Amino acid sequence: MLKICVCVSGGGTNLQAIMDGIADGAITNTQIVGVISNNKNAYALERAADHGIPAVCVSPKDYEDREQFYDALLERVKSFQPDIVVLAGFLVNLPEKIVKEYQNRIINIHPSLIPSFCGVGYYGLKVHEAVLQRGVKVTGATVHVVDGGIDAGRILLQKAVCVEEGDTPKILQQRVMEQAEWKILPEAIDKIANGKLLLD
Ligand code: GAR
Repeated sequence: MLKICVCVSGGGTNLQAIMDGIADGAITNTQIVGVISNNKNAYALERAADHGIPAVCVSPKDYEDREQFYDALLERVKSFQPDIVVLAGFLVNLPEKIVKEYQNRIINIHPSLIPSFCGVGYYGLKVHEAVLQRGVKVTGATVHVVDGGIDAGRILLQKAVCVEEGDTPKILQQRVMEQAEWKILPEAIDKIANGKLLLD
């Protein structure tokens, strides 16, 4: 059984896709042992609690400095004793300390086809705004291993999504989620849990 800790910051639709995947059998051999949010108002926390999953907030606002926040975050992750950590819309860049502790055991979903529209400043809706501004016709989502860089680790899965005439950032974000993110993140977890995708 693959034990996963899911880190979130907002709405938690990717967390929902994982919970649904486990419930309907699309993801097997997997248990969510804990959910951590850096934002106490994240709806993702409610989604987790509704499923009886331990859900906690570790907010930078509750710590004197970034180092203390990172230490608390790492301790919280460790307390769940996960095999892997899944960043599902977690808008905190992990420090080296955490990445090293969980080397090749952290995966992230990013809402573009890496290496396009990723790195510093590209997160959430901003990614889709940039895609529309640049006028590309195809975008998508990527699941990758988290290493020291931002959106920089080994790519595990990608799925392309068409940009359509009249798209707004929100419309495009929704299509990328529906057609790509909510599919490839559960797929990656299932494959990791069943030895079909190796993280190292
Ligand atoms: C998702 O689109 C996810 O790919 C993105 O934040 C959104 C979270 O939505 N993550 C990033 O931009 C990370 N660089 P959710 O809370 O509904 O899953």
